Amino acid sequence: MKLLVCGGAGFIGSNFTRQRLTENGDAVTVLDKLTYAGREENLADVRDRDGFAFVHAGVEDREAVEAAAEGCDAIVNFAAETHVDRSIAEPDAFVTTHGLGTYVLLEVARARGLRYVQVSTDEVYGSIETGSFTEASPLAPSSPYSATKAGADLLVASYRHTYGLETVICRGSNNYGPYQYPEKLIPLMVLNALHGDRLPVYGDGMQVRNWIYVEDFARGIGAALEHGEPGDVYNVGGPDECPNLEVVERIVALTGGNDSLIEYVTDRPGHDRRYSLSSDRVRGLGWEPQVRFAEGLERTVGWYRDNAWWWEPIRSGDYRAYYERQYGRQLG
Ligand code: NAD
Ligand code: TYD
Repeated sequence: MKLLVCGGAGFIGSNFTRQRLTENGDAVTVLDKLTYAGREENLADVRDRDGFAFVHAGVEDREAVEAAAEGCDAIVNFAAETHVDRSIAEPDAFVTTHGLGTYVLLEVARARGLRYVQVSTDEVYGSIETGSFTEASPLAPSSPYSATKAGADLLVASYRHTYGLETVICRGSNNYGPYQYPEKLIPLMVLNALHGDRLPVYGDGMQVRNWIYVEDFARGIGAALEHGEPGDVYNVGGPDECPNLEVVERIVALTGGNDSLIEYVTDRPGHDRRYSLSSDRVRGLGWEPQVRFAEGLERTVGWYRDNAWWWEPIRSGDYRAYYERQYGRQLG
């Protein structure tokens, strides 16, 4: 297959691209705007492979998308603004990328008759106290991030219903693993613990997330790409749930850090308490998660420990100013 992978220079998109090139024998063109979260370094080990191409452009740029889609069989869309805290501080880019960007990709897929996979999130369902969301659960997003992602999902569904486009939506739970930008909980805590910086836990730290190792999510998206029923949504949730405070304590133990670095800070406005996905439908395609949280977390800590070349430019660059704005203190 030849794929156009939008947002493929980000965390999940780069892991998916690596998997498709090295394990599935696909050709992949990555189209990415290279925002603060998109980095060509994420693809350093695959960029010289046959079948790989890179286009620097936004998904809202129709001419660029049309040219990049030439000869492709499918579009897989990861391109997004992905951090809830940034969506609260500055929602603009979330509206443009998720709304206009998804629209442009759908139009190009329609004009060329391409299969279209939208990468989405469990956050579109909102928070759940007990039990798990199925694909039939109503959408009840809480943040500008999840609301604009939900809007994109609805637009995708409308292209199926109205134009018969071959669409599939994959809703993942919280991902973790190599190449994740350190604004997110796990890499932030790993790098802070390794550096002896404080570990900022929002509110009481008892919010629960359903953790999935990034390679498992990438395989789930691959299963939906290859075998998903057009028009269907597939939840792809991880095998384990864990409260944030326990995640941080496990990271402290794995890094040999110190519990006294944990600092309770002001809670995120509108903070969702718990996410949980039921993934029976994607299991029906032959997928199941392979990495339990304890093993994946150990691997992830090891990756960050061994790959300072990757995070040093981030931690010494613009991320410092972001961190100071968000947490009111400087990184050490
Ligand atoms: P990320 O922030 O690491 O990467 C996003 C990528 O999109 C970056 O490479 C960025 O440069 C690119 N991008 C942003 N705006 C763009 C635009 N207008 N045009 C082209 N490229 C653009 O995000 P991620 O964690 O890899 O998430 C990828 C997708 O998976 C997103 O759609 C996200 O909603 C979804 N998702 C993420 C998680 C998670 O836990 N990280 C869980 C479920 C679903
Ligand atoms: P995050 O990685 O931002 O993902 P999401 O908000 O999409 O689930 O946050 C995961 C959880 O960790 C969430 O409950 C917020 C919490 N959190 C903290 O307690 N401290 C932090 O510094 C960050 C970034 C997140």
